Amino acid sequence: MPSSEEIRDGQRAAWARLSAGWEKWDAVIMDQLGPVGTAMIERLDIAADQQHLDIASGTGEPGLSIARLAPRGRVVLTDLSAEMLDVAARRAAAQGIANIETKACSADDLPFADASFDSVSVRFGYMFFPDMGKATAEFARVLKPGGRLAASVWVSPEQNPWTSIAMDAIATETELPAPLPGAPTMFRCAAPGYITALYEQAGLHDIAEWNVPLELVTDSPAQYWSMISEHVSLAVAALQQLDAPAQARIRAHALTNVTPFKKNGQIRVPGLARCIVGTKPS
Ligand SMILES: C[S@@+](CC[C@H](N)C(=O)[O-])C[C@H]1O[C@@H](n2cnc3c(N)ncnc32)[C@H](O)[C@@H]1O
Repeated sequence: MPSSEEIRDGQRAAWARLSAGWEKWDAVIMDQLGPVGTAMIERLDIAADQQHLDIASGTGEPGLSIARLAPRGRVVLTDLSAEMLDVAARRAAAQGIANIETKACSADDLPFADASFDSVSVRFGYMFFPDMGKATAEFARVLKPGGRLAASVWVSPEQNPWTSIAMDAIATETELPAPLPGAPTMFRCAAPGYITALYEQAGLHDIAEWNVPLELVTDSPAQYWSMISEHVSLAVAALQQLDAPAQARIRAHALTNVTPFKKNGQIRVPGLARCIVGTKPS
């Protein structure tokens, strides 16, 4: 079993490499994940002077959307990867958002005082944390009494063909390594109630889970494959172990399997996320 330090070091290095792909495909990724951010934000009751903490912000969402809703407030974007936060800062500047700051840190060791935020968000970050219980305890610690935590995770490979098409194609050429116990994987938090149990252990109450559908929309099967193979962590890691002919066969396989998702001239592949909200007792 890898140590927490080994997981963090691996994640930091992986996301430094992935940041260019996330910046390149920013518009497509943000359109795909947008409904999940919107669903999380709706449950956070953002006030104009909200003090908000976004965890595993990556390129900035949902923190930047929250900053727009809190013109007299402040949003702190945090992530393990300084390179991802550099993209977030560039996106904020391009969108004219000034009430944010960035801080590179790990979710399970936050450099913030107790009870310093009105709300905390974690969009698609949980599955990467070495110790999800410790991280949730940190979120509860930095929340003010009555403050809310909203997170999202992926539901299952079957309900997320936008990624399973690519993973199945990769599996035709290479055996994807079985995840080590405790190591990050995309569907690690998929079981219903999994995140609720972490929230309960951290003392949160009024906890609710609900599913949010989304769609990955690209212009063509070829664009689908370029986008996935340049920003999905597992796909990037698996493909770089393979030679060019194997990569070409995988691409052909994925293109064949994604083509049936063509609708009105676009490739529209569905997915399903689960959102979880909870409140720190007053
Ligand atoms: C899938 S991205 C999500 C980015 C963004 N929240 C979004 O939804 O677009 C996951 C992010 O988790 C970050 N991450 C991984 N391990 C982390 C840790 N231990 N603490 C904080 N962030 C971490 C990665 O650097 C990456 O930016």
